[in-house]
Amino acid sequence: MSVTLSIIYLIATVTFVVGLKKLGHPDTAKSGNLIAAIGMALAIIGTIFIHDLEVPTIIYVLIGIAIFIGSLVGWLIAIKVEMTKMPELVSLFNGFGGASAALIGIVEFGNADIKNIDVTIVATILSAIIIGAITFSGSLMAWGKLNGSVKSVIKIPQYNIINNLFIVSILGLATYVVLGNVDSSLILYALLAGGLVYGVLFVMPIGGADMPVVISLLNSLTGIAAAITGVLYDNMVMLVGGILVGSAGIILTIAMCVAMNRTLASVIFGSFTSAASDQEGGNKALGSIKSTTASDSAIMMNYASNVIIVPGYGLAVAQAQHVIHELEDLLTAKGVNVKYAIHPVAGRMPGHMNVLLAESNVEYEMLVEMEDINPQFNNTDVVLVVGANDVVNPAAHNDPASPIYGMPILDVENAKHIVVNKRSMNAGYAGIENELFYNSKTSMLFGDAKKVLTDLVAELKNM
Ligand code: TAP
Repeated sequence: MSVTLSIIYLIATVTFVVGLKKLGHPDTAKSGNLIAAIGMALAIIGTIFIHDLEVPTIIYVLIGIAIFIGSLVGWLIAIKVEMTKMPELVSLFNGFGGASAALIGIVEFGNADIKNIDVTIVATILSAIIIGAITFSGSLMAWGKLNGSVKSVIKIPQYNIINNLFIVSILGLATYVVLGNVDSSLILYALLAGGLVYGVLFVMPIGGADMPVVISLLNSLTGIAAAITGVLYDNMVMLVGGILVGSAGIILTIAMCVAMNRTLASVIFGSFTSAASDQEGGNKALGSIKSTTASDSAIMMNYASNVIIVPGYGLAVAQAQHVIHELEDLLTAKGVNVKYAIHPVAGRMPGHMNVLLAESNVEYEMLVEMEDINPQFNNTDVVLVVGANDVVNPAAHNDPASPIYGMPILDVENAKHIVVNKRSMNAGYAGIENELFYNSKTSMLFGDAKKVLTDLVAELKNM
């Protein structure tokens, strides 16, 4: 490799690390993204133009066309996508990353002298194909489940045993090819097909609260697949980029497991909770609910010393982040101590609430993580829950039969008064009843979050 290309790769690698570091805080995230993107552009340009190969012009033209189409499609999707649809987009991107790795693996298998090369190279090629194929089909399944086009959750008895036997068979076949230097296209395509089928089997039974963990795990697999292709091509920047995505994805997966009270082993090999909508008890008589008005809620908050706002998915749906910031400003100006309680899986993607509230310039310091805010609910006069449901569901503490049992939640029921804003008594993502709404301290403030918060702001301005 030429010195110039090595230097370009080194610069690109550094930009990835710096970019990733900067993504850790909302104030620096935009520049971090830009820095890493510039590094990636440098690496791509360097790879295309700096080499010792005789490349016909037509190849450059084809690469140019592919980059143009890819960039255009990516750009169009990215500017159009709504924030709430971001996990679907991430799933699709993960899938394409996996497909690239699998395709590279197939090409390399064809090019290599399989019978005579080192077993580690054969193992690397097969890993790219299998992991890439699993990531591709698994991500497409996840995408379909997130956008609602794939609804079914298979309920075959011993489903996980079948699943685990399937992956063990794939690995057994791959080991046979590696150890025996078996040059068989038939087995190669069987492994590809096996990977594709396993990706579907793996994601198919997952429902409700486990979904974010799986998306993050697939993201990590995309990184691992990219790193493996980096090994194949002896390409440092691909290797480092893949490792960064793979390790960041694993760290996020573990953080999500902790947030949802699941072990990583139970996510990979164990049984998943079924789709929450399958849960019984949706009509359980939990008592009666108490409705309230914007005016009464505004009075309550106006005379409170401490108010905690709990944002959830509904806030994102209603795009009410600006008006909630206005409400918080108004209360603060009136001497009320206001904080936001951030649950790690509130919304539909990691950091969803942080990103949403950063959009309306809420001070980052006002967002308090779950472990830090939970002890504070005892001293809180009013909790305003806006479009959140599962993350405040006490069933996680009280009901061992609940699919979210054991998931850490925001302990809002410890506050003196709870005002819950949502449009109806419909369930949240996990599809289960929430006894918080029936708590004697809770008042339901029904309506679209944007409309209700606008009314609250108007009421407070008149006080
Ligand atoms: P959810 O439990 O999904 O509840 C959101 C609530 O918002 C719903 O009950 C809905 O009730 C209400 N809502 C919807 N649109 C609204 C609007 N325009 N105005 C006011 N309310 C509205 O949300 P959550 O508490 O944030 O919990 C997140 C859930 O998603 C968890 O189960 C989590 O596991 C899952 N999940 C999270 C992620 C990540 S990584 N964050 C990814 C995938 C899944 P109405 O219909 O009655 O209005």
